[in-house]
Amino acid sequence: MRFYATLPPGLEDVAAEEIEDLGGRITEVRKGRGRVFFEGDLKLMAKLNYMARTLERIMILLAVEKFEILEDIYGIVKRLDFGWIKPNQSFAIRPLRVGEHDFTSLDVGRVAGQAVIDSYMESKGVRLKVNLDEPDVIIRVDVIFDEVYVGIDTTGDESLHRRGYRVYDHPAPLNPTIASAMIRLSGWDPKKSLLDPMCGSGTILIEAGMMGRNIAPQKLRDFFQFVNIYGRDLLEEVREEASKLENEDEMMLLGIERFRKHILGGIRNAERAGVGDTVHFIQGDATKLCVRSADVIVTNPPYGLRIAKKGVIEELYYGFLKSAKDVAEKVVVITAEIEFMKNSISKNDYEVLEERWVKYGGLDTKVFVLKP
Ligand SMILES: C[S@@+](CC[C@H](N)C(=O)[O-])C[C@H]1O[C@@H](n2cnc3c(N)ncnc32)[C@H](O)[C@@H]1O
Repeated sequence: MRFYATLPPGLEDVAAEEIEDLGGRITEVRKGRGRVFFEGDLKLMAKLNYMARTLERIMILLAVEKFEILEDIYGIVKRLDFGWIKPNQSFAIRPLRVGEHDFTSLDVGRVAGQAVIDSYMESKGVRLKVNLDEPDVIIRVDVIFDEVYVGIDTTGDESLHRRGYRVYDHPAPLNPTIASAMIRLSGWDPKKSLLDPMCGSGTILIEAGMMGRNIAPQKLRDFFQFVNIYGRDLLEEVREEASKLENEDEMMLLGIERFRKHILGGIRNAERAGVGDTVHFIQGDATKLCVRSADVIVTNPPYGLRIAKKGVIEELYYGFLKSAKDVAEKVVVITAEIEFMKNSISKNDYEVLEERWVKYGGLDTKVFVLKP
């Protein structure tokens, strides 16, 4: 079967590596487009939904074709086989449009929806019901410049970046998918110590803890859209296999945070995620690190957009990198304040091992991998 996964653009190679680790065969990596294409079986699809840490959604690929006008999209969708949808099931199109077109994503949804209805009517003689709020089946139709991608959404409206452990909401939390990708980029393994000196509610530490203990990122989730098509047994099979891989290993995962309320929230989140006993928090200052050494630092400092003022940010970045220099072997940091970060990196004489754009929500950010 052919699949594609979506993820935050800029991290495609990291996601492709994880898909391979879990048994998929990569066929194409669309750099900067947040899409990875791969092959595998149904079990792999279920396993990726349940266990992948760097993906947001997994689709069964029905078509990827070039088009010129809106009517072409109708034709492309109408030719597909929707006979696997049960006659009493409802469906919804979830359209996406990137680029300049003389139609809207609503038009894409309308045209593709009609094509599904017409196709099903021709093959089964039944008019399928549309339900935009709680559909049994979700068809994704992504119009990206001059191409249209059609896929069966096996994940559902709730993206895989939602892990279910956030009982405390930090005002600027990091997307756990990006946190996991940053941990991979740091080269961390459970034997190494990891420090997040601006840890907020602890997302990076929690993701590392779950990784080290092989706790499935979707352990707390009970529903994926594929259950409506392939049944619950497939999910239960994967859940059972995954639970056998778990361990209770101790790791060295330390977070420093200025505000006590975030620490208290982080402790609750870590407990909910099953790593409360191996993630540790200290109230402190990232510019005056109170730890002697850490194999890797992975962190998500404030960007200045939501939390603090810009001048303060520049000082914070400089002070943090200065303090981290004698502490860590490697530093991985994400920010939208790219120039401030670059200045601080060069003033503190770090070697830049890697820098990459990552699209985070609507924001252009950069992930830097640094060697002191
Ligand atoms: C973007 S948030 C991190 C969010 C975190 N990754 C999460 O998912 O919850 C940045 C955090 O850095 C903290 N912070 C800012 N300046 C600090 C400093 N000098 N020392 C320690 N923490 C600081 C803020 O209080 C904030 O919680």
